[in-house]
Amino acid sequence: TPQTNSSDVASVSSISEEEKALMALAEDLDSWNLTLINRSHPLPDQFSVKTATIAASYARDNGMVYDARAVSNLNAMCAAAEADGVTLLVISSFRTRAKQTSLYNNQINKMRARYPNLSQSEIEAKAGTVSAYPGTSEHELGLAIDFNSVEETFDKTEQFRWLQAHAEEYGFVMRYAKEKESITGIIYEPWHYRYVGEKHAKKINDLGFCLEEYVEYLEKYSK
Ligand code: DAL
Ligand code: ZN
Repeated sequence: TPQTNSSDVASVSSISEEEKALMALAEDLDSWNLTLINRSHPLPDQFSVKTATIAASYARDNGMVYDARAVSNLNAMCAAAEADGVTLLVISSFRTRAKQTSLYNNQINKMRARYPNLSQSEIEAKAGTVSAYPGTSEHELGLAIDFNSVEETFDKTEQFRWLQAHAEEYGFVMRYAKEKESITGIIYEPWHYRYVGEKHAKKINDLGFCLEEYVEYLEKYSK
């Protein structure tokens, strides 16, 4: 359709409100809460993070810790669920490299028993979709939480329904969706949540993206 000169000028010279909002979100790309960790984005070997103890009533084990910058969001989310009559229980949070290595090796042994005819590299590939290869787990980053039960049927529980409705308000997203397995490289994990911050959690959910897609998308809006 024909346009006036003034609207032509406007369309080339102005940045839309939506683009401005995305540019503002993209300013956080290098900040701790958007750190992307996966098989192709491993942690540095000397990685360390300042952690703080999770409120004891929400932690399965004594002294479980989480990134100190996000632990209050985690505690507040668990308290809000509790107020709604829903019990969120942290069953895994920060892991050392040694712990992740041990979990990964257990997964290797399980896969070898289940698929005796597969080669070592095929076994490693399968194991890595369940337990992240050491150095590539968000649990080592300190921003991942596993809630209540590491069973796919967790998605039938009231805890899962509560998290789907409210986790974003506290800055958390479900990290490994079923339909994103080919992008994340990790099986569907309805129990695994990742802190990214409130505005990013809401945007990620609105867009229907996993963190890999979100980071790639925001990169188009960064200076
Ligand atoms: N189970 C998730 C992918 C991990 O090991 O970090
Ligand atoms: Zn997890």
